[in-house]
Amino acid sequence: MRILVTGGAGFIGSHCTLDLLKGGHDVLSVDNHSNSSPESLRRVAKLAAREAEAVEGDIRDRAHLLSLFRRFTPDAVIHFAGLKAVGESVEKPLEYFDNNLVGTNMLLSVMRETACRNLVFSSSATVYGTPEKNPIPEDHPRGALNPYGRTKLVIEDMCRDLAGSEAGWHIALLRYFNPVGAHESGEIGEDPRGTPNNLMPYVMQTAVGRRPHVNVFGTDYATPDGTGVRDYIHVVDLAAAHVAALERLDSFEGAEAVNLGTGRGYSVLEVLAAASKAAGKDIPFKLRPRRAGDAAAAVADPSLAKTRLGWTAKRGLGDICADHWRWQERNPAGYGA
Ligand code: NAD
Ligand code: UFG
Repeated sequence: MRILVTGGAGFIGSHCTLDLLKGGHDVLSVDNHSNSSPESLRRVAKLAAREAEAVEGDIRDRAHLLSLFRRFTPDAVIHFAGLKAVGESVEKPLEYFDNNLVGTNMLLSVMRETACRNLVFSSSATVYGTPEKNPIPEDHPRGALNPYGRTKLVIEDMCRDLAGSEAGWHIALLRYFNPVGAHESGEIGEDPRGTPNNLMPYVMQTAVGRRPHVNVFGTDYATPDGTGVRDYIHVVDLAAAHVAALERLDSFEGAEAVNLGTGRGYSVLEVLAAASKAAGKDIPFKLRPRRAGDAAAAVADPSLAKTRLGWTAKRGLGDICADHWRWQERNPAGYGA
């Protein structure tokens, strides 16, 4: 297949592009590098022994996007491009609405104009708001806790409305839980700009000496050890789920949501212990009050992914930490090293 990937140079996009190339698909990535480096796809090319076409561009540039669609004639699109920092979205909501909502509207309108109606979209477990129960099934009520989450909710609805307006759309709304880990080669991985917001990159940057200690946000949750529980999913498993979704996209009538998680949750302290084991050293941490807006636990019900995509996660927390550590140790300053 010919796959146009938005945000292909990013963390998840680069791993997915590698999987697509290895599977024999042709890939064009359009990325404005607002949160990534072109180096990621250069490394992907080496690992795959073939290249994706990497175009620098912004999905909000409609004329450019249209020219890419006309030239590349994709069979399907995987849409990763977007801003994703929860705290930043609270400070700059309009930037998030512009980048994520206007950008997606441009993409969808170009897809309609060029009659490309196959789409895989990066949604998020954030659409469940504060979970009422765990594990979380896809029919759990939705809600937004911040502007970032609101963009995911609205984009899901935009896709549903569009698919309802004309026949022929096949859209997979993939709701990721907590993507972590790195490719086993240690060549590609997550390279957050500035101070990481998320636990795993913070833990690994602490292990490599870039941060003095990890802050454990909240020790009084109703969880076995009092710290927050999440469903951490290896990025290589996540990439495989996208390929599976593409292969079954014909069976998606309109827009359908599917959770991507493992079904197993780990606490912050369990993550720290597993990361310390992988890095072969104690990782210093300090116990802190809760972080505003955090849920006690969020764990996927992954059963729909199994039936709809024929996909289950294969890698556990040990693999996640070993692979993430390999990437961090070999690239202490990320792609800038
Ligand atoms: P990322 O920031 O590494 O990748 C996103 C890529 O999109 C970056 O390379 C960035 O430069 C690019 N981009 C942003 N705006 C663009 C624009 N207007 N035009 C062109 N390119 C643009 O993030 P990621 O972790 O790989 O996430 C990919 C997608 O998955 C995002 O939509 C994110 O919201 C979603 N998601 C991520 C997580 C997570 O924890 N990583 C969880 C759930 C959902
Ligand atoms: N945590 C810490 N210290 C840190 C960072 C996080 O203790 O420095 C804790 C949090 O309190 C939480 C857990 O680690 O209990 C995981 O936090 P992350 O920030 O890694 O992940 P979240 O579950 O809060 O959020 C992530 C993404 C969101 C996305 C959500 C669901 O950041 O964008 O998963 O997919 F919406």
